[in-house]
Amino acid sequence: MPMDVDLGLENTYIKHTKLTYIDGELGVLRYRGYDINDVVNNLSFMETAYLMLYGRIPDSKELKLFSSYIGDGKLPERIFSMIDTFPEGDPLSMASSVFAALAIDNNMKWSIDENKRNAGRIIGLSFNVFANIYLHIKGKKLYNIDLGDPVSGFLRVTNNMDPKNVKAFEAAMILYMDHEIPASTTAALVTASTLSDMLSSLSSAMNALKGPLHGGAAENAFLEFLDIGSPENVKPWFNEHIIKNRERLIGFGHRVYKTYDPRIKKFRELSMSLCDEKNRIILDTALELERVALDYFREKKIYPNTDFFSGLLFNELGFEHWFFTSLFALSRVTGILAHIIEYNENEQRLIRPRAIYNGDGERFIKR
Ligand code: CMC
Repeated sequence: MPMDVDLGLENTYIKHTKLTYIDGELGVLRYRGYDINDVVNNLSFMETAYLMLYGRIPDSKELKLFSSYIGDGKLPERIFSMIDTFPEGDPLSMASSVFAALAIDNNMKWSIDENKRNAGRIIGLSFNVFANIYLHIKGKKLYNIDLGDPVSGFLRVTNNMDPKNVKAFEAAMILYMDHEIPASTTAALVTASTLSDMLSSLSSAMNALKGPLHGGAAENAFLEFLDIGSPENVKPWFNEHIIKNRERLIGFGHRVYKTYDPRIKKFRELSMSLCDEKNRIILDTALELERVALDYFREKKIYPNTDFFSGLLFNELGFEHWFFTSLFALSRVTGILAHIIEYNENEQRLIRPRAIYNGDGERFIKR
């Protein structure tokens, strides 16, 4: 009998991985052995996705073939009709429903020969899923985007084709592509471990990712900055909310990092370089909040996480806050798929933990 439960599975390792290495004390993140800053400064989204799935940087022939898998990710007509029936609401719940609906007649079986090809197709489908959720919420006509270059195809939907915006968005998608096994990837792993299919596993992941302690943090951190309003208001706001009311500061703290998250450097650099006059006050408010909070939390080793900065960038790229979590989710699809493939190809075992019973002893119904 175990002595106690491992709440939050904080000290439990559930798989081996060659995908992502994190050193939370030193602030190191590597994809397949390459430092995250090396990756984001040198590779495209497609090259990074290939690297995560196949373990190496592709040559031009390999990249062409991978692009053709992604290009297969077209949504069938019935999915457009389904999206059109969604009421106004949470885009991640819509995404989870669409991935589940795609699984109904698309039950791709696990097969070492086909897994990576299927993953490429699902990455293409994901660009279409989130683009069309966006179009639906905006009241526009739905269509299959150009997947030749999925990042540009996606930004075309949001009318955001300035090359420097495309580059910045591509960088954000790479920075968010994988992060070992946070709650959403774990949810996908649990589903995949039952040998349920990849699309259903992705559907599970979306529901976990939307929570405010996980993917929802970027939106909530951004709303925090708007609520504070200006750098002068930071101190009184912080005293009232964080010190007096003991609320959690969203965008700060991490289960693994006890120092700066290494992805922040690039997010900060991009949000500072794209910031225009209109958004200056939000950025200045965030930077002042970071300064005040770091001062207060230093002893507890609580630092900003990526979600503190990513919302600033997404806002500068013209996205509204209700779509921030979707952008994170779209970026993470590749990492989730790479992890469930790695698990089912190498160590597949049904994930079925135990609970320690602490309820009543045996009771008898008396009538
Ligand atoms: N604001 C105030 N106090 C905090 C915060 C915060 N953001 N984060 C941790 N703490 C305190 C917490 O109150 C506790 O203090 P004490 O020991 O005195 O009770 C201590 O730090 C340890 O906290 P914990 O909740 O046991 O730590 P955790 O590993 O479960 O926390 C976390 C991780 C992300 C849930 C937490 O830091 C948090 O709630 N942050 C705010 C939400 C957020 O930004 N989420 C994004 C997470 S990163 C990306 C992702 O995974 O998607």
